[in-house]
Amino acid sequence: MFPVERMRRYRLNSNLRDIFSETTINSDKLIMPVFVDETEKSKTAIKSMPGIYRYALNEYEKYIGHLEDIGVKNIIIFGIPKHKDSSGTASYDHDGIVQKAIRSAKSNTKLNVIADLCLCEYTDTGHCGVISNGYVDNDKTLDIYGKEAISYAEAGVDIVAPSGMMDGQVGAIRKAMDSNGYVNTLIMAYSSKFASNLYGPFRDAADSTPQFGDRKSYQMDYRNGDEAMREIDLDVKEGADIIMVKPALFYLDMIYRAKQLYKMPLATYMVSGEYSMVKNAVLSGALAPDTVNEALISLFRAGSDLAITYFAEDYIANHGKA
Ligand code: PBG
Ligand code: ZN
Repeated sequence: MFPVERMRRYRLNSNLRDIFSETTINSDKLIMPVFVDETEKSKTAIKSMPGIYRYALNEYEKYIGHLEDIGVKNIIIFGIPKHKDSSGTASYDHDGIVQKAIRSAKSNTKLNVIADLCLCEYTDTGHCGVISNGYVDNDKTLDIYGKEAISYAEAGVDIVAPSGMMDGQVGAIRKAMDSNGYVNTLIMAYSSKFASNLYGPFRDAADSTPQFGDRKSYQMDYRNGDEAMREIDLDVKEGADIIMVKPALFYLDMIYRAKQLYKMPLATYMVSGEYSMVKNAVLSGALAPDTVNEALISLFRAGSDLAITYFAEDYIANHGKA
């Protein structure tokens, strides 16, 4: 008898394909990155990321209102401050750009507000921590991350997202927030963040390129998978509420392994370079527009619960509230 199982029966038409589809993208699970820039007067296009802009505060306010209107639920804020110094003091300024952006989003919208927590936008060296003798000083940096976390929590942020890859950062932030009464602010830990070539466009956008050296003494070596699981394990023990794998498309194995090992919310970050690759290829006509869906689906099929992606706005605008 000819094959008992004819797999092509599942694929006969689009109704049948839809009923058998195993993976969906739900707009509740997408997080849109937003750049708010204290050095700008209006909005500026980011050249390597077509369709993505840095916004002055007043433009940001209009933009997040628009995001809410089209059905976006979650944003992650990145700030570009006017003032940079050796220890990134603007990061915990009560009237800092991110603090203002958080307060505005919380009082004018119902968005779930996440703030990236790092120092690279705030230090004059462009490093994610304070430099002592040419080396990023882990424990001095933790003290500043603690202040930054308290300041964001005080502004009303829902979730802080430490991205600096210092040892002990999740524990230090948890302790700082707890001892100041912010016990209900969640931590989304950039747990296994690789030293990737794919952050290039972001660093232009956020003005956060290291002025010397690179980030390889704190971000992970992309040859290592077991070590990535250890990084996640530490963050879980230190009190992370959400763990993250970043970047995403070249790291689907990491997403899969993390989800198998940790039954807790797993976020993935499809980073600036991944956006650029797909977006520019679609704009040039080399790839079909549906490539975007294929890329987003891969994250969820691999095991992501949440995805940070610069495609979130367009996806939700085109597909509505899922
Ligand atoms: C800051 C930070 C970076 C990204 C998120 N938070 C840049 C970096 O580590 O250099 C990358 C995001 C992207 O490329 O979209 N530590
Ligand atoms: Zn950083």
